[in-house]
Amino acid sequence: MQSIGIFYGSTTGNTEAAAKMIQKEFGEDLAKVFDVADANSSDLEGFSNLVFGASTWGIGDMQDDFADFLSEVSSANLEGKKVAIFGYGDQDAYEDSFVDAIGEIYETLDGKSCEVVGTVSTDGYRHVESRGEVDGKFVGLPLDEENQSNLSDERIKTWVAELKKQFN
Ligand SMILES: Cc1cc2nc3c(=O)[nH]c(=O)nc-3n(C[C@H](O)[C@H](O)[C@H](O)COP(=O)(O)O)c2cc1C
Repeated sequence: MQSIGIFYGSTTGNTEAAAKMIQKEFGEDLAKVFDVADANSSDLEGFSNLVFGASTWGIGDMQDDFADFLSEVSSANLEGKKVAIFGYGDQDAYEDSFVDAIGEIYETLDGKSCEVVGTVSTDGYRHVESRGEVDGKFVGLPLDEENQSNLSDERIKTWVAELKKQFN
């Protein structure tokens, strides 16, 4: 497998902690972690595989640092790269905007000649609506610290095992 860049935006630390666990699962020699508050488009272009992580705030709003970073994603040359997305949300308190940030990242990648991998079944989640759900599947990995924190480690491990098969 070629190099992996993990880029996260996190306000209270949940997405940051998951980014570091994802790095461990890939191996620290292969995967590097970036807080998007300190990253730009040229950081993205150095990796064959990318993982984007962001939490959702407001009512379906992108996490603040990642909202600023979306223009870097838009301007980067991502041709031929494999991209995976994850994000934290709260499916009980925000059942109509659960992990919308995952969907916004996915939409930003549309038409950029990269391939999004790591879609996830909606089984086991009880949200009503999500911008991150396309054709009945999540376009990335949803995590929920408020309601299903006990499932996060296993979800991350299963997801990374799948990404290892699909990444460049
Ligand atoms: C004011 C507020 C608004 C939120 N809005 C949403 C939302 O619209 N959708 C959602 O799925 N989660 C929402 N959440 C839940 C956060 O995404 C969740 O707490 C997440 O774990 C934060 O991750 P972070 O620490 O990486 O920023 C909201 C939380 C708060 C406190």
